[in-house]
Parts: sequence; C-alpha cells; structure tokens
Amino acid sequence: MEYIGATGVPVKFDSVPIEDGIDFHFILSFAIDSDPSGNAQNGKFSPYWADTLTPESVANIKNQHPNVKAMASLSGWSIGNKVLRWYNPQNTQLWISNAFSSLKSLIEEYHLDGIDIDYENFPQRNSSFAYCIGELITLLKNQSVISVATIAPFHTTTVPYIELFDNYGDVIDFVNYQFYTDKVRQPKGYLRAFELRADQFDKDKLLPSYEVNGRGIQADASASNGYYYEKKSQDFLLNSTSV
Ligand SMILES: *[C@@H]1O[C@H](CO)[C@@H](O)[C@H](O)[C@H]1NC(C)=O
Ligand SMILES: *[C@@H]1O[C@H](CO)[C@@H](O)[C@H](O)[C@H]1NC(C)=O
Ligand SMILES: *[C@@H]1O[C@H](CO)[C@@H](O)[C@H](O)[C@H]1NC(C)=O
Repeated sequence: MEYIGATGVPVKFDSVPIEDGIDFHFILSFAIDSDPSGNAQNGKFSPYWADTLTPESVANIKNQHPNVKAMASLSGWSIGNKVLRWYNPQNTQLWISNAFSSLKSLIEEYHLDGIDIDYENFPQRNSSFAYCIGELITLLKNQSVISVATIAPFHTTTVPYIELFDNYGDVIDFVNYQFYTDKVRQPKGYLRAFELRADQFDKDKLLPSYEVNGRGIQADASASNGYYYEKKSQDFLLNSTSV
C-alpha cells in the first residue's frame, strides 16, 4: 500500500514501479471533511491530493495494471497549518449521510475502490468516531460503493481504532498499522510490536510496514531515491509468495 499525493509535489502514478502478481493499493491522500481553511463541513469530504492525480490517471493506471486498486484516505494530520481532529458531530446521522453522499460521488468520479481511515487526533473523552466511521464503511460496502476498507492506527491512536475494529471488524479488510511510530530499532523489538498489534487487531488483517527517514513509505518522497523501498518490498513479497 502506497500513500500518494499528500505533500503537494506533482507526483504521478506511472512513475511508481508496480510488479504484477501482488495486490497493489494506491492510497490518495487525503479526502478531508473541511474547506481549504480547515473549517469542518459536517461530513462533506473534498479531495485535497496533488492535482496531478486526476480521475483519468487513476483509470489509466488501473487499466495498465489489473492488480492495482485505488483508495481515498480520510483526514490525515493537517490541512495547510491547521491540525485536523475528529470532532463529535452534533447529529451523527446527518454526518454519516453527508459523508456517504460526498464520498460516493468522489469515489465514482475518481474510479476508486475503497477508503482508508487516517484520523490522527481525537478528543480526550468518549467519541462518536467508532460509531460514525463504522456505520459509514458499512453503508458504503452495503451499497457496493467500495470493495475495500482499511484503517491506519499508530502508536498513540490505538484506543479509538480498537473500538472501531471491535465493533466493525467485519467490514475492515486490512489494518495499515504505522509501525514506524513504535520506534523499534531491532528485529526482536519489531516482532514484539507486531505481536502486540496482532493481538489488539487481527493477525490475518495486520500489514507490516516500515520506516524511511522517520515516516512510512510514501510515493511523494520516494521519487528522490528511485523508489528504492517500493522495489525492495515488492521483490520481497514476490520472493515470499514463490516459496
Ligand atoms: C459521551 O458520554 C456521555 C455520557 O454517557 C453521552 O451523553 C454522550 O452522548 C457521549 N458522547 C459521544 C459523542 O458519544
Ligand atoms: C445490505 O443490507 C441489507 C439489509 O441489511 C441486506 O439485506 C443486504 O444483503 C446487504 N447487501 C450487501 C451487499 O451487503
Ligand atoms: C529475491 O530473489 C532473488 C533471486 O533468488 C534474489 O536475487 C533477491 O535478492 C531476492 N530479493 C529479496 C528482496 O529478497
């Protein structure tokens, strides 16, 4: 899974090396429930990824590589210099309905297959995150708007994501846990972190991930090193499937 389009550089899908024979997901970053100044829109999501990632380019990369799926990631850390956070909508049904319609049209326009949940900041106390997001994914899947849904918890956000996964795990396909935030330095530490997250979520849905320069892999930054880690990871996956 490759996040793409978050940093504003004019990144393109066809620069990224893609091997046949593995499932490859581009995660367009980000669809955000806010206006360009960061004011919440009560569930009405708009696309804020690099404008080089057009609907036509999504259709083209999927035609060239039948193993590619494309998704929209919801929220992310910030817009401009405003930090984004889950806010508890006053009317949860209205939020879910707005999110469903806005995402449905965005997903149809961009030929997307699914959504990734990447809220990164939460209120201190109880929140309606698990309920609203769980119902949203359920509805999008029930109406066949999406075929895949993933969640992207990290070190300090596991609690709301565990609540979401416990209640709506049936409609969540993969847990795109951001292992770089656990800051392990040795293989043994990584193994322990993986075991902990597998226990909190589901070992069969948990994806390994790793750190490049203090972050997860993302296409925007990888262009500068010739997509070294994308190539290595895919080699590794291909080698392991042939064993
Ligand atoms: C938080 O808990 C209080 C008390 O149980 C409840 O009234 C309120 O609706 C909850 N808020 C959310 C957003 O779930
Ligand atoms: C959608 O929900 C309805 C009502 O619960 C159910 O009968 C139907 O099988 C669901 N469809 C899909 C594709 O999940
Ligand atoms: C994959 O297998 C080839 C052939 O055995 C080997 O040369 C290459 O180093 C392997 N790559 C990885 C990432 O394991």
